[in-house]
Amino acid sequence: MEDFRTLEDQARDRIGAAGDLAALEALRVEYLGKQGSVSLLLKTLGAMAPDERQDKAPKIQAMRQAVSDALAERKAAMEAAELERRLAAETLDLSLPAPEAPKGSVHPVSQVMDELAEIFADMGFAVATGPEIEDDWHNFTALNMPESHPARAMHDTFYFPEHEGAQGQQEGAQGLRMLLRTHTSPVQVRTMMSQGAPARIIAPGRVYRSDSDATHTPMFHQVEGLVIDRGIHLGHLKWTLETFLKAFFEREDIVLRLRPSYFPFTEPSVEADVGFALENGKRVLGGSGDAPGHGWMELLGSGMVNRRVIEMSGLDPDQWQGFAFGVGVDRLAMLKYGMDDLRAFFDGDVRWLRHYGFSPFDQPTLSAGVGART
Ligand code: PHE
Repeated sequence: MEDFRTLEDQARDRIGAAGDLAALEALRVEYLGKQGSVSLLLKTLGAMAPDERQDKAPKIQAMRQAVSDALAERKAAMEAAELERRLAAETLDLSLPAPEAPKGSVHPVSQVMDELAEIFADMGFAVATGPEIEDDWHNFTALNMPESHPARAMHDTFYFPEHEGAQGQQEGAQGLRMLLRTHTSPVQVRTMMSQGAPARIIAPGRVYRSDSDATHTPMFHQVEGLVIDRGIHLGHLKWTLETFLKAFFEREDIVLRLRPSYFPFTEPSVEADVGFALENGKRVLGGSGDAPGHGWMELLGSGMVNRRVIEMSGLDPDQWQGFAFGVGVDRLAMLKYGMDDLRAFFDGDVRWLRHYGFSPFDQPTLSAGVGART
C-alpha cells in the first residue's frame, strides 16, 4: 500500500516536472509501457493468493488510472500552452491582399477581332456574320465564280460529301452543294440580300482551306469589309484602309501601296501593300516601302464590288456601288504582336496563351479613337 502511494506520488512529481511532450512520452513508457513499472505491478496480481489479489488489485488499478490521468492532464496543459504561445507570436495581417485567383486569358485572335470591331465602329460599321457551313452559291456563284470558274480551284475547298437525292439532285438547303466557306466574302452577298442598301459592315470569322504549313492552317480567320452606298469610289476604299491600318497598328506613318489585282467579285481589284522597315532583322511596319532598307508587304485584297455581285445580291448596280476588302485576322495579329508561327495560334498550349494572351479586363480601346490623332 505504502509502496503504491510512493510510486504514484513520485510519478505525479515527475509528470509535473516534465519539460516537453517528448519527456512526457518517456514517462508514459516508463510507467505504463509494456515493461513499465505500473504494468509490471499489474502482472504480479496473477501470482497472488486470492485474498491478497482482492486487496491489491483495486489499489494498483486506481494508481494506474491516476498516473494515466496525470499524464493526460499534463499533456493537455502543455498543448494549450503551446497554442497560447503561437497565438501570441503569430499575427495575421488582415489588410494583406488576397492571393490572386487564377484567370484565363483572351486569345490574340479574339483580341484583334475586338480591336477591329472597335475601330470600324468608330467609322460607322456594324458587325455582320454568316454561316461557316456555306453553300457553293453564296461562297462562289454569287461572287461571280460560276461552276467552271478557274478561281474555284485556287480555294482548296473542303466540300461536304455529295448526297444524291431521289431525283439525282444534290441535297443541301436548296439542293446546293455544301462546303466550309473558303473566305468571309459570302457575308457580302448575305448582307446585301438581307439588309439591302446602304450597308456598312465588317464580318470577322473563321474560314477553311485545305492547306497547312507555318503560315497556313486549314482553319484561319478573316475579316471582310463592305460598304454599299451611292457614289462610292476607290478614294473611299483607300481612305478607309489607311485610317483602319493607322488605328490598328497605332502608327501614323503607315504607307499603303495599291496594286492592280484580280478577284472575280471586285472590279477593279486592288491588292494593298504596306511599307515596312527592317530593324534588326524584324519587319517593322511604317514608312514607304521604296525607301532604302525598306520593303512592301502584301496585306489584303480589296476592290470595288463587281456590279454582277451587286446584281446577284438583288440590288441595282446603277444605283448602288461599293467597295469590299478581305484581310487575314491571324496575320494582323502576328504583325502587331510579333508571333511568327501561325500553327501555335491553334495548338492551345497554355504557356503560349499566357504569354501572348490578353487580360480579360484589358478592354481593346484605341488610345485616342479613329481620327483623333491627326
Ligand atoms: N475573299 C478574298 C480572299 O479570301 C479577299 C477579298 C475580299 C478580296 C474582298 C477582295 C474583296 O482572298
